[in-house]
Amino acid sequence: MYRYPESHVHYRKLTREYPRIVRGEGCWLEDEQGRRYLDAVGGAYVVNLGHGNARVADALSRQARQLAYVSGTAFTHGPAEELAAELARVMPSGLDKLYFLSSGSEAIEAALKLARQFWVESGKPGKHKIIALTPSYHGNTLLALSASAREAYRALFREWLVDVRRLPAPYAYRCECGGSQANCPVCSGAALEDLIRREGADSVAAFIAEPVGGSSTGVAVPRPEYFQRVREICDRHGVLFVADEILVGVGRTGRWWAIERAGVAPDILVFGKGITSGYAPLSGFATSERVLDVLMRGSGALLHGQTHSFHPVACAAGLATVRQLQEERLIERCARLGEQFHRKLASLRGRPHVGDVRGIGLLAGIEFVEDQGSRAPFPRAAHFAETFQQAALDAGLVVWPNSGQADGVNGDLAMLAPPYIVTEPELDEIVTRCSAALEATLKALNAGVRS
Ligand SMILES: Cc1ncc(COP(=O)(O)O)c(C=O)c1O
Repeated sequence: MYRYPESHVHYRKLTREYPRIVRGEGCWLEDEQGRRYLDAVGGAYVVNLGHGNARVADALSRQARQLAYVSGTAFTHGPAEELAAELARVMPSGLDKLYFLSSGSEAIEAALKLARQFWVESGKPGKHKIIALTPSYHGNTLLALSASAREAYRALFREWLVDVRRLPAPYAYRCECGGSQANCPVCSGAALEDLIRREGADSVAAFIAEPVGGSSTGVAVPRPEYFQRVREICDRHGVLFVADEILVGVGRTGRWWAIERAGVAPDILVFGKGITSGYAPLSGFATSERVLDVLMRGSGALLHGQTHSFHPVACAAGLATVRQLQEERLIERCARLGEQFHRKLASLRGRPHVGDVRGIGLLAGIEFVEDQGSRAPFPRAAHFAETFQQAALDAGLVVWPNSGQADGVNGDLAMLAPPYIVTEPELDEIVTRCSAALEATLKALNAGVRS
């Protein structure tokens, strides 16, 4: 085991021990002791093609040998041109201009800057406010964190964050209406219009949201009408709609983009995570000529740029990933296996402290509660999500824990997002190991042990 301060690595958590992983194959990871872990979340919703994919690895290595780096300010190259063309073909209508970066947070920053710059160069410099949902997560750099309703990450840096206006997320399990009323202002999207009116449409630049809630709501799936309503409201009030598809895009929900469920297109669509299946860091955003022509006639360039934007090797990994998703029809497979996955996961419903099990495609959230009737969460001090994550790891299963979704502080989730190449027996194994982890978690909590 590896831990601080015995190693020179500044670990993400200084208080825990880390197994050293030496290889990955398909949905499985192996540590140096030969222990195998079933990776039920692709690391962090990233490894959509599975571990050890030779085709993507070869594409990376070929590109590194041919041309590893040129600056995007001076040159273009094959991988950026071809990846942009491939993505333009599968993007929602009109979003056929692609900008590439490295992390999701950077792409969110750049997309929000574009929204602001669009309005300034359209002659509306008063439009600067951003509206975002709560709960939500859009990244960890300061503008992306400003847009995120994740109190635990924000509190220390509050003075450095910009003021982002908040709208309750369409999160049926925790909405007063319980998701049962089509005309609920929160679940229908109508509340966005009230907020824009209150703020003054001439001051609002953008509304940013995940088309399906990712880790911050444990896969709250809004009604398809929600984003139809959002689109109409944004059009009516001249607000750009930014869809954050970093977690839920690139096929994860069984469609190329989660927003397709609503049959509408955002003004800017941001992607990351699974776009290279983890073989290189790549993110980006797509937008339309309608938006970029304003900059073309104005300043001539987005006021953003980073050394590794349009990185040839990362773009080559993206291109190989996109081609494999298409040629092997893996997004269709994700949709098909997703249905089976949710049928299998339903066996966890009703188990002690399981409040809800929900999801879409190969993306699922298990929400734990102290009391199933009232939906009251465990107190944060119980560290239910973290204890479950550790129990899962002990059972050889990798899940993603999350907390705070119930009221900003309390609330426990375990998230699942297996690679699209997962097999049916592996899906069964995920459910079996989740069930064992739940039992172990309850035992640990009763014994007063927590992670
Ligand atoms: C919805 C969403 N947006 C943005 C981000 C930030 O991406 P990154 O961690 O690559 O900066 C994440 C990361 O988890 C995310 O889930």
